[in-house]
Amino acid sequence: MAYGKIPDSVIEAVLKHHDIVETVGKYVHLSKNGKYMKGLCPFHSEKTPSFTVTPEKGIFYCYGCGKGGNAIKFIEEIEEYSFPEAVRAMAEEAGIPITWSGSTDGQSNEGNGERDKLVQAHELAAKLYHYLLMNTTHGQPALQYLRGRGVTDKQIDQFLIGYAPPEWDTLARFLEKREFDSALMEKGGLLIGKQDKSGYIDRFRDRVMFPIWNRDGKVIALAGRMLGEGQPKYLNSPETMLFNKSRNLYNFHHARVALRKSRRVVLFEGYMDVVKAWSAGVHNGVASMGTSLTEEHAAVLQRNADEAILCYDGDNAGQAAALKTIPILEKAGLRVQVAMLPKGMDPDEFIEQNGAHAFIREIIEHPVSATKFKLLYAKKNHILLEEEGQKNYLLEAVRIIAVLDSPTEREFYLKELSREFDMSLDSLKQDCFNERQQLQKMKPQRDNNDNSWNNGRNENRENRRSSSAPPVLPAYQVAERKLLAQMLQSADIANTVHQKLGEAFHVEDHAALAAYLYAYYAQGHDPDVSRFIASLQDDRLERAAASILMMDDDMPFDEQLLDDYVNEISKVPKLREIEQIKEAMIKAERSGDNLKAAQLGIEMYKLQARL
Ligand code: CTP
Ligand code: MN
Repeated sequence: MAYGKIPDSVIEAVLKHHDIVETVGKYVHLSKNGKYMKGLCPFHSEKTPSFTVTPEKGIFYCYGCGKGGNAIKFIEEIEEYSFPEAVRAMAEEAGIPITWSGSTDGQSNEGNGERDKLVQAHELAAKLYHYLLMNTTHGQPALQYLRGRGVTDKQIDQFLIGYAPPEWDTLARFLEKREFDSALMEKGGLLIGKQDKSGYIDRFRDRVMFPIWNRDGKVIALAGRMLGEGQPKYLNSPETMLFNKSRNLYNFHHARVALRKSRRVVLFEGYMDVVKAWSAGVHNGVASMGTSLTEEHAAVLQRNADEAILCYDGDNAGQAAALKTIPILEKAGLRVQVAMLPKGMDPDEFIEQNGAHAFIREIIEHPVSATKFKLLYAKKNHILLEEEGQKNYLLEAVRIIAVLDSPTEREFYLKELSREFDMSLDSLKQDCFNERQQLQKMKPQRDNNDNSWNNGRNENRENRRSSSAPPVLPAYQVAERKLLAQMLQSADIANTVHQKLGEAFHVEDHAALAAYLYAYYAQGHDPDVSRFIASLQDDRLERAAASILMMDDDMPFDEQLLDDYVNEISKVPKLREIEQIKEAMIKAERSGDNLKAAQLGIEMYKLQARL
């Protein structure tokens, strides 16, 4: 429950300054809808908005994925911050002085202290390598190598490219002199402990160095390329407490501005591609580093862009990787296009040979659709000169087209096929139809992720209900939620419920919320939903609270209703008892013990009458 060292007053000030609509509005396009605002959820992919913000209560909640909370929570989720990181960023933005301990150099706890030290070491290492590249004779061959590959000094500066000299301990000594703990530096991937435990050596030697930044622009890892050919071509930092390959994308922090503006990201395979493409004018390019693109990468991108252009190498490996990446990006909700390079070329080579202008004009601005790419890719696997090959390709092509949702799109590609192979459109359509039926059978019901309760075109309540009805809750659970909704907004009501019911809520999360709420009011706080949520520090409870607060609560609330709810809740144990007796009675009847059954029947009747 503790905030760590962040004072209550800071959290209060942060929440006061950051209006929920304004905070969310920076990331999500919201439109007004009665008492609340709605928009497309930034946390899961959906076509109809189920993401809501209630200005009055200072909270957001998504009916689709269940994420919810206050403004701090929103920033935590969208920026992938921890709670203290989110508070800190929001305080900074609001000009609220950051005075709590641990806020500057992380003395507050070991974990943060180590991370901060390691970031410092990475920043210093990157600067050292950059300096050595630009200003020493040691660095000359590397500088020549880079220039020879067409990297300008401007790009070297911008990407802080450097050179790690061949000596064993350049960085080790440098860090030691500055009193960095060598064991920690080893853990962080900068140094390597000697076999005989007599000391430490540098991980990177005689390599061109590319610093890798996190999204805040802090150096968290390094990649080193050999000057010539050889293995391994690249040596990357290992996964550390700072660096997660499946989440980090090279150049994301630089690209973010352009990316958010254009809502479009260009994906490359290599560091050099990103650097060279930048100088060619592609400022929204990123690369996954030595791993194929993961769902986590895709989720990060989806929050910042609507569309991805894959610009992978023109060789077989690159094209196969592109094919594998398409569904990952699409699943995350991004529209995908593929910018294709001539056979065997990578973006860097294309730019070197044909220039920046051609790269933009011919490649980046002329991507093909994902479907078109799949068709071209499939085509390569069949010998079209042979009848058998043609037939097989056509069948595979129809399978590719059949997954498209839009009939127009399907027809578009089928027509193209029919023209190309002189086939009747009707027979292709028939095959496509059969294929779709096949797919339909294999599909597990519906996409239950997209819990769209609201259908953009038709907003009446009936439709909302029927399109995907939320689960019907038992009466006592509804009562618990209704009561909590009132208690969250009134200390008096909370007090009354405390006396009448205590913590005897039957749903575990409800009981926990009630307990925290009693404590919150007991500490003298006034009702403030958003602040209360901030005090919970528990994902599940925060969501539960947000979901409860999002219920329609237009019904006037009074003492009578409160008592009704309390009764509904208190009678649950008796109902359970009755159920048990009923079961026993049925059992007795079945086994022919009529006397026992009759006795149980009377008991049950008495209990029911008392309710
Ligand atoms: N990679 C890696 N380790 C290797 C080879 C490649 O981590 N041994 C990763 C790097 O992130 C690299 C990317 O895979 O940037 C693409 O590899 P490749 O196309 O071989 O390298 P390029 O980026 O094209 O590098 P260069 O142009 O310098 O050859
Ligand atoms: Mn290359």
